[in-house]
Amino acid sequence: MHLRPLAAIRRSSGLLRAVVLLVLLVLVGAGCTDDSAWEDPAARRPPAGGSTEGPSASGRTASGAGPDRTVDDRPDPIFAQGVAAGAVRTDSVLLWTRASTGAPLTVTIRTDEFGPDCTGDSAGAVTTIGLGTAPAERDRTVRARATGLTPGTQYRYRFCTNRGEASEVGAFRTAPAPDDAAPVEFAFTGDVTAERAANADEPFYAEGFDVYAAMAGLPLDFIAHGGDTIYADDVVKRNTGFVARTRAEKWARYRDNLAQPQFRAARASTSTYSHWDDHEWDNGFARDPADPANEAHFRAGVEAFTDYTPVDHSPETGIFSVYRWGPNLDVVVLDETTFRTTPVDTMFDEGRAEACRNPVTRRIERVPTAPQDLRNRWADLLGDAWLRAPVDPACLALLADPRRHVLGPEQFAALDRALRSSTAAFRVVLSTNPIQEFYVAPYGRFEGYPAERARLVELLASVPGTVVLATDVHATLAGPVDLEPGRPAVPGTATEVAVGPAAAGRRQDIWSRYFAQGDEAVDRLATSFFRAPAEQGGLGMSCVRLDAFAFATVRVGPDRLEVQPRDRTGAPLANVDGTPCGPVVVTRP
Ligand SMILES: [Fe+2]
Repeated sequence: MHLRPLAAIRRSSGLLRAVVLLVLLVLVGAGCTDDSAWEDPAARRPPAGGSTEGPSASGRTASGAGPDRTVDDRPDPIFAQGVAAGAVRTDSVLLWTRASTGAPLTVTIRTDEFGPDCTGDSAGAVTTIGLGTAPAERDRTVRARATGLTPGTQYRYRFCTNRGEASEVGAFRTAPAPDDAAPVEFAFTGDVTAERAANADEPFYAEGFDVYAAMAGLPLDFIAHGGDTIYADDVVKRNTGFVARTRAEKWARYRDNLAQPQFRAARASTSTYSHWDDHEWDNGFARDPADPANEAHFRAGVEAFTDYTPVDHSPETGIFSVYRWGPNLDVVVLDETTFRTTPVDTMFDEGRAEACRNPVTRRIERVPTAPQDLRNRWADLLGDAWLRAPVDPACLALLADPRRHVLGPEQFAALDRALRSSTAAFRVVLSTNPIQEFYVAPYGRFEGYPAERARLVELLASVPGTVVLATDVHATLAGPVDLEPGRPAVPGTATEVAVGPAAAGRRQDIWSRYFAQGDEAVDRLATSFFRAPAEQGGLGMSCVRLDAFAFATVRVGPDRLEVQPRDRTGAPLANVDGTPCGPVVVTRP
């Protein structure tokens, strides 16, 4: 990979521009009031100009010497949850920390090295912003939006209290200017939980957190993080002993994750674009505006997520956002929770989708959208007779209801405009849920919303050079996003790479419970169907791995986009059949 060490940050113009830097300070929730326009993502940026707002926009500079400490190695426990940067654009960023103190805070941005303590932070800095005290009603989390930054520039930042206690030093890079064709390099993963049994020291998925250490060690322009950023729900109740429904209970789950040093290191190392999915609320969660308890739960999840995650968010557009990375790349972040109608498996749990009960297993049908001839093939391949029972057409009709959707009409239209108006060489759609069709347990993915999915597949194919990066499936699966799975990909068909999980249950373990022959059945499905070429009746996926904690790196240049799935050590991932997984290459159309 092209290395861009911190030491090589661009200094040429940063300090000069610091003189005229205009900074807008925004504490949590206060800066997203003009975010209503689906039509113009740029309208979601804070207004330009030198104005400041928020309860303590004094421009106050840190004062007071801290104790003798090496800041990077021994961050003060006051900042025990670390630092993060998000929603970065060419000229702005959202900076985040949590400070367990009532002392006033500042954050300083520099293009050069920080000194050993807070005393010298503001001298020669790009800016130092006064933040007031971290609000207890937001669990002492703080967000500050800085604007007026220089495109394509590496920055460092550090929070300090007025008593000289310092956070660790974080880093981010602003998006390049429209004419700066330098390659863009980033990583993505998703699905993380530090849940652990009572009295256990280590999380269940402790090894998975190595994924974050591997990413933290790479010179990345940003990290895209798929949803299920906490598991707040019944799925983890067996491990944690409780379901996190209130804002404060969800805060505790975010703090659990941030107790893992690898996770903090990744968040400090570069900026993030972050999703939410369903587990920030509950497995298969969907809003029900007619149910006050449901809406209160939704609000608690939104508040806790935005308290702990620096993202662009508004009630009208959720977390849907578009970020431009020079002439090579546009990044679209979808919101797959705010507008989603209820998944059919959730309806089944509520007694509203009885047609989707398999007559043999007497449980919910696991493979409802596969044609019967394919189900029969799988019955032989996997040794499960229940696949021979036809799916009730009423179940398929429920799935196909055109009123059901993940994105909803307004977000779909905004995505359509963002893709069709893009002049970048490549477009990356960060979709926490896969769009590929692979049939097993499809209810929560786009496959479980076939009417909207069909329109989405057509849209993606009509804007060549669009790539989907997904998580959620807790597996690494790379293949074409197509209406007819197994068909040889045609020019224009979008490629999707789903990776993960970072640190959560692996798909091998989850799916093995669906089939009588367990692990062996899942292996056969992976090798003889997912990996098998289309000519042999398979899906022809270029990457299939169901049992590895994983992430992927992405390099985007003017003519080529390359995705390399990696294991938790950062090494290129191997497929289920031992062949190399990737790199997945998309060339400019
Ligand atoms: Fe997940």
